[in-house]
Amino acid sequence: MKKTLIALALSAAAVAPAMADQALAQSKNCMACHAVDKKLVGPAFKEVAAKYAGQKDAADKLATKVIKGGSGVWGPVPMPANAQVNEADAKKLVAWILAQK
Ligand code: HEC
Repeated sequence: MKKTLIALALSAAAVAPAMADQALAQSKNCMACHAVDKKLVGPAFKEVAAKYAGQKDAADKLATKVIKGGSGVWGPVPMPANAQVNEADAKKLVAWILAQK
């Protein structure tokens, strides 16, 4: 029984990497200000993905901005620094954000 549960959990993780990254975004508090497909305090992640589509250096720039915060791109409201996010997680989150369409 236990083995079956573990196998189920593993296969669910394999088919749902996108959901794993959404869970990461939730655990890092991103979803307090962002949603995938509508503007909350910050821009919808789909809009972010559309804006930076095809820009090679976007992922690095955005990962830095996620950690340090920043303003002036989407409107008057700044994004505060997210000091609870390390560089590896910031890159993972940005890759997930840029894959939204
Ligand atoms: C307190 C609210 C808040 C939280 C929490 C927050 N954001 Fe933001 N985010 C914003 C706002 C506001 C902007 C728009 C900033 C601007 O116009 O430059 C933004 C912009 C962004 C952008 C686009 C930046 C750009 O230059 O185009 C990304 C990517 C992003 N956020 C990811 C994240 C991630 C990942 C997290 C979680 C670690 C997060 N945000 C947490 C409010 C927030």
